[in-house]
Amino acid sequence: MSDIKRPVKIMDTTLRDGQQSLIATRMSMDDMYPIIEKMDNIGLYALEVWGGATFDSCLRFLKEDPWERLRTFRKICKNSKLQMLFRGQNILGYKAYPDDVVEEFVYKSVENGIDILRIFDALNDVRNLESSVKAVKKVNSHAQLCISYTLSDVHTHEYYMNLARQLVDMGADSICIKDMAGLILPKAAYEMVKGIREITDLPIEIHSHYTSGVASMSYMKAIEAGADIIDTAMSPFALGTSQPATEVMVAALKDTPYDTGIKPESLNEITSFFAPIREKALASGLLSTKVLTVDINTLLYQVPGGMLSNLVSQLKDMKAEDKYNEVLAEIPRVRADLGYPPLVTPTSQIVGTQAVMNVISGQRYKVVTNETKDIVRGLYGKTPVPIKDEIRKLIIGDEIPTDKKPSDMLEPGLKKFEEEMKEYKEQDEDVLSYALFPKVAVDFFKFRQAQKYKIDPELMDKENKVYPV
Ligand code: CO
Repeated sequence: MSDIKRPVKIMDTTLRDGQQSLIATRMSMDDMYPIIEKMDNIGLYALEVWGGATFDSCLRFLKEDPWERLRTFRKICKNSKLQMLFRGQNILGYKAYPDDVVEEFVYKSVENGIDILRIFDALNDVRNLESSVKAVKKVNSHAQLCISYTLSDVHTHEYYMNLARQLVDMGADSICIKDMAGLILPKAAYEMVKGIREITDLPIEIHSHYTSGVASMSYMKAIEAGADIIDTAMSPFALGTSQPATEVMVAALKDTPYDTGIKPESLNEITSFFAPIREKALASGLLSTKVLTVDINTLLYQVPGGMLSNLVSQLKDMKAEDKYNEVLAEIPRVRADLGYPPLVTPTSQIVGTQAVMNVISGQRYKVVTNETKDIVRGLYGKTPVPIKDEIRKLIIGDEIPTDKKPSDMLEPGLKKFEEEMKEYKEQDEDVLSYALFPKVAVDFFKFRQAQKYKIDPELMDKENKVYPV
């Protein structure tokens, strides 16, 4: 260890990935509001507050306008940067959207308060990052581009270095090693950061999950290799399928060349604030002890934590819980068949559901979901390795897959979406909410209208007209 000081920056994920990973993104603005200012004042480099599943969850479950949430963060936060997770061409949804929708979404995210967009593609097909990067550059914002990390025979060191080079060439403002499943081991983290450091001077951030219990060790090695920023969550929403704990990393780095500069005692109030929210979630069952334990199967099956809990509930619904281990073993096989996609939204859901189908129906690919077909058709982009002919035939028959960039096959969509939802439009951003989640957004718009006029949503008729009472 040299004497040169190289302070590590902290990106706190409590309000996005932390709560998404542990309590299914059900933390409301009312829950977090009282602590935001404090979190903004203690020297955290950035707060991840938006994107990922928060957008869907706001509209679907919490009946909150996600845009209003973002504006509230912006109003309060003066020091830490506000960061969001952006699924490239999939925006915050589960499929590819037209370029005009992607670009408009980026503009509105920045306009409403986002400082850093962390952009990834589930397949690491860099073409799916192009339109979002272009839009970020146009509004002079920060494009953090991701390496979606996974393990497979094709995901070699050379593969990742080649990818990192492409991200730099595209105009990345920083690089994130995004390990969504907690797979990265200390040695790999070290080599990866070292390798990227040789390619570029851009800031390098490491993002992992505690699922397999190694994340904080991997962070330490990444820091030693030159990582600039680490992703952590406040301890009540850390560990398990979430990130390493902020308090722990701050303490561990104290008085080393990597000292974060954050005073450990300044975190106490925040820890105490979130502790009862965690207790409440444990008591209600929203937070399950299942996601809090080290799951070594993660390293074996390479399945993100969130995917495992989805799987359990999917099988429960089908009254087939006894098939859990069979499905778990089928997942890596489906993944290999589909050209080794990293398992992250939406590919994790697609591979998971197809594995369930293959097991439940008793015959592989007897029942095939549309999403599985679309992967084979090339509609999500290029898979890390080509899909074998016999698998392709089994899934889409004689159809010819495309090698075009997925969004090149889509017509511009913004005008059409606006036309479809104009009766509900109260702000330009509503068009984007609708574009991503049409049905859920309309339900939310009706709810919002009803609130405004203090009308029982039940009293709205089939044409969605509002009848004041
Ligand atoms: Co994550």
